[in-house]
Amino acid sequence: MAREHAIAVIPGDGIGEEVIREGLKVVDALAEIHGFRLRKTHYPWSADHFLKTGIAHPDAAFDEYRQHQAVYLGAIGDPRLEVGMLERAVIAGLRFKLDLYVNLRPIKLYDERFCPLKDKKPEHVDMVVVRENTEDAYTGIGGIFKHGTQDEVAIATMLYTRKGCERVIRYAFELARGRPRKKLMLVDKANAVRPQDIWTRTFAEVAKEYPDIATDHAYIDAACMWLVKNPESFDCAVMPNIFGDIFTDLGAMVQGGLGIAASGNLHPGKTSMFEPIHGSAPKYRGKNVANPLAAINAGGMMLDYLGEKEAAAKVDRAIAALLTSGRIKSLNAGDHKTTEIGDLVTAEVRKLSK
Ligand code: IPM
Ligand code: MN
Repeated sequence: MAREHAIAVIPGDGIGEEVIREGLKVVDALAEIHGFRLRKTHYPWSADHFLKTGIAHPDAAFDEYRQHQAVYLGAIGDPRLEVGMLERAVIAGLRFKLDLYVNLRPIKLYDERFCPLKDKKPEHVDMVVVRENTEDAYTGIGGIFKHGTQDEVAIATMLYTRKGCERVIRYAFELARGRPRKKLMLVDKANAVRPQDIWTRTFAEVAKEYPDIATDHAYIDAACMWLVKNPESFDCAVMPNIFGDIFTDLGAMVQGGLGIAASGNLHPGKTSMFEPIHGSAPKYRGKNVANPLAAINAGGMMLDYLGEKEAAAKVDRAIAALLTSGRIKSLNAGDHKTTEIGDLVTAEVRKLSK
């Protein structure tokens, strides 16, 4: 019997549905080529669904996701709803309820014309950021006292646990071990925010188990400078949640923008979630102009996670071939049709399989 993988699909808001459709086009073609099956369950969570039913995201769905190997998510966010409400319910909900402690963000430049930095070429921009995904300022611990008054007090807690640091750091070392340069950088701000010393110490301890990996350290402010000045100095980096959120958006720009950047939210061995990092871009919705390459890339990361390594590598090769040859000329919305890019990548993965 053919290998089967169960995936939950949440197209979400805005351009989510259109880009996920193209992503599924590509992964379905690869399933056919490589002889595996993707059993899909579609979920309707979105602003439209919320406005119709009053349901943002039912708790029971988390148990259903656990019956799948992966969740494939389009985009969440809609200006008609309270800021961040649906994002917290769906995206943060998934990360916390499924304990997806690794946010994996490859930053790879496919062609130099997409890089905003002068003289930087694909060989200069090829790194993976491992962002902690379940702690830090994202736990929701804190609040506002005397809201809206002159005496207002707001508290947001940056929370780090030994377990939380250790597991994500260990994941990053394993990842670094599988890459040619065998380098891992810790990024923190332990000089000014002293409790972040838990990261420094945990990193040093785990490093003893990986003598083959060259380690390095930078404070987040300096790391941002280096990313712009010398992106080639990065290979793998691991960092706390909120720094990772900011650093990976900077990274996305260095690799060509939100049109291409994808991420995996992982709990190795358990149900994990894959998403493009662009938002829902409501203004492009339904116009067939959004660039689906980020969603297609996220689909490739999902295949890799499912163990379909050859199929996953083809997604990357196909995108690289289409971008370097100029057949996909731009990453901007509107320069190609959404469906056209999906068709081009699908044709290319078929060509790579002949
Ligand atoms: C991301 C997003 C989320 C985050 C938002 C939507 C909650 O910016 O995935 O990086 O801050 O983590
Ligand atoms: Mn972000």
